Formats: sequence, C-alpha cells, structure tokens
Amino acid sequence: MTDKTYGFETLSVHAGAAPDPATGARALPIYQTTAYVFEDADQAAALFNLQTVGFIYSRLTNPTNAALEARLATLEGGRGCTVASSGHAAQVLALFPLMAPGAEIVASSRLYGGSLQQMRNTYPKFGWTAKIVDADDPENFKRAVTPNTKAFFIESLANPGGVISDIEAIARIAEAAGVPLLVDNTLATPWLCKPIEYGATLIVHSTTKFLSGTGTSMGGAVVDSGQFDWAKSGKFPSLAGPEPAYHGLNFFESFGDMAYTFHSHAVGLRDLGPSQAPFNAWLTMLGIETLGLRMERHCANAQKVAEYLARHPAVAWVNYAGLPDNKYHQLARKYLPKGAGSIFTFGVKGGYDVGIKVVDSVELFSHLANIGDAKSLIIHPASTTHRQLSDEQRVAAGAGPDVLRLSIGIETVDDIIADLEQALKKATS
Ligand SMILES: Cc1ncc(COP(=O)(O)O)c(C=O)c1O
Repeated sequence: MTDKTYGFETLSVHAGAAPDPATGARALPIYQTTAYVFEDADQAAALFNLQTVGFIYSRLTNPTNAALEARLATLEGGRGCTVASSGHAAQVLALFPLMAPGAEIVASSRLYGGSLQQMRNTYPKFGWTAKIVDADDPENFKRAVTPNTKAFFIESLANPGGVISDIEAIARIAEAAGVPLLVDNTLATPWLCKPIEYGATLIVHSTTKFLSGTGTSMGGAVVDSGQFDWAKSGKFPSLAGPEPAYHGLNFFESFGDMAYTFHSHAVGLRDLGPSQAPFNAWLTMLGIETLGLRMERHCANAQKVAEYLARHPAVAWVNYAGLPDNKYHQLARKYLPKGAGSIFTFGVKGGYDVGIKVVDSVELFSHLANIGDAKSLIIHPASTTHRQLSDEQRVAAGAGPDVLRLSIGIETVDDIIADLEQALKKATS
C-alpha cells in the first residue's frame, strides 16, 4: 500500500497487513513461534550483523508484531515503531537509547500517576532523574533544562485530569534544547491527535487501552518520527556514536532515520526483553481496525455524559475539556478538534462516602482499574489507585475524596446516563 494516499480509517484496516504471501490468508496470521530457520550460515551472519532485515528470535522481532509496528508507525505519521509488553515497558524502552546514569528528563506533573511513580521511584535506580514540572506553562521546561537533560516527556491528553499539553510550544523548547520530545498519546490515540505533526519526536502508547479497545490485551508501543538528528548535539552516544552494546556499530550513521527503531529492537528489546506476545499484537491489530469508529462514539458519548453531569444537582464539578468553560477547552480545540476523548473526572457533593456509594451502585459501568475499553468504566481513585497516598498528596494528584473517574464506552448513551442517574440517586438518598 502507498500509505500517503489513504485516509485514517482505510489505513487502520490495511496498513501493515497485506494478505499473507505464503498462504493467501486475508487475516493477519499469528506467528506463534520463538525462532526462525536461517537459509544458510551467510544469511544468519547477515541478520546478526543487521546487514539484512529479517527474523531471528521473537524477543527481538516477530512478523505479527512487525505488522502492528508498521500500522502504528503509519497511523502516527512516524518512520518506525517498536511494540512492547505494556505501556510502562514502552516508556522504559523509549528512554533507554537516550539515557545513561546521571541523565535527566523533564516531565509534566500531570502525567498518569503510574508514570510519575515510575519516574520518581524506579528511574533513580537506573541513575536517571526526572524533573517534574507544571506543563501548563511550557516555559517551565526551559527552566528545568541542564546540560544532562536528554528528553522532555508529556501526555497529549492526560489521564485522568483531562489536562491537555501545548505540544507545539513544548516541542519548540525541546528543539532549542537539542532534546527529543516524547509524547504519551494513549488517551488521544492518533485518531484524535498526531503529536509528530506538532514537532514531537517519539510517541509512546499503552496499546492496552483504546488501540486494542476491548480490555483484552496488555501492550505498549514506541513510534519514532525519524526526524531527529541524533548526532547534532553529541548528547546521544548510544545512537550516534560507537554503541558498545552492539560491537561498536554507529546506528545513526548506518541506518539514518531508522536508527532509533533499529536500536530499540537490536539493543532495547534484546537486552531488556519486554517483548509483546504475538497474540496480543494480533488482538490489537483487530482492535485498531475499528479505532476511528469507536473513538467517534467514545467522544460523542463522553461529551453528552459530561454535559449531563455538569447539570446534575448532586455533582460539584466536571473536568472535561469538551465543556466550553473548561480550562483546557481552547487547547482541546487546537489539538483534539474531533473530540476531547472519553476519560474524565467529576466530583460528587458529599465527598468520599458518596463517591464509594456511586461505584457500589452502578450496574452498567464496571468498577475497575482500566480505561479505554468499549465498556463504560468507573473508579473512585481515593479508595483504590491512590489510597496509599496522604490526603494532601491525593488532592495534589487530582484524586481527592470526592473524585470519580469515568472511561465512557461505546454503549447507547441514554443507557450510560440512566445508569449514572440511578447510581447518583441511590448514593445521595
Ligand atoms: C496514559 C497512560 N500511559 C501509560 C500507562 C501504562 O500502560 P500499561 O498499563 O499498559 O503498562 C497507562 C495505564 O493506565 C496510562 O493511562
């Protein structure tokens, strides 16, 4: 397929998955194999030398995963992609070629709580430091830059607060600092926003969410724009110098705009090992076929549910960027013109006790710790995901006692609203 001439929905169905040349199978086969027979000793040597592209061992590459990688790179407008076992694995994999002990990243304070936890408490064990800044003012990124800064990290649309980052402004500051901008595009998906068009270098995903779409498969992905000059600043020796982890190969000199993706497979997946199971890649490929249809419905439903809640007497506030009085509404219009996503928080009058009663009273919604499923989901963060924090920390994280997080599914919107109506009634009566 010549990708450039097709629309998003066409590419969602076709990119990366031509009929199987061996059998004619129209659906993508699941290559459930750990290894691949070499043609002869010369071909084996060429594969190990990265002189030819092919399959050696499924920790590094697998044809089903490769199809998903091609599809995600196409949908994000990137050059290459590496899939991983989870979103969190993808984040480590994404930073790995850039970082070394003593290296720093600058990250938004509004990231998904699990990402902040990873950055604050686990990255230091690798000798990496994350400086956490308020991304509402892009200049905070500039202020945090030091000679050791290797990357900026933001979410296009943050989980759960509906916070939208000014990608273009932050990308400009990253460019001036000579570092790549990484954007977690999990909540927006490329259907709503393509951060590479605004200057992002690397996109990370938890494919666990909207991309797989039905709550079946853990997975992650890193997409490289292929546009960053890894040699210019001298800050990225693993990519643009002799890489000791691959017998001194200079990836940037050898592979140009595919250097980052080759490194992620040949060194990142090889040495860290967080490979995606081919069955999960296959389920995610199926999910992506309907991404545009689902996102359209997710966003339309979420908009109606947010408007309903904003009028409800038992509701204190609603934090959804699709509402005109929301702080991020203008940024939503710029970066998410097709809709403000389907995940948002709201506060109930009556605080913690009412919040608990709502999650215990819903019937259609599932009370669980996930987002981006076709089914509507709800959680009360203060009593679950954020319960280990102090009261002050919970409020700072947007998980105060009254907060409920919704992930609005694709069911009939009247049924979603009716379920919330009866749950709010029970909880407040
Ligand atoms: C925005 C975001 N990024 C990354 C992750 C981590 O993804 P995973 O759970 O697939 O490791 C999550 C999980 O909820 C998320 O919401």
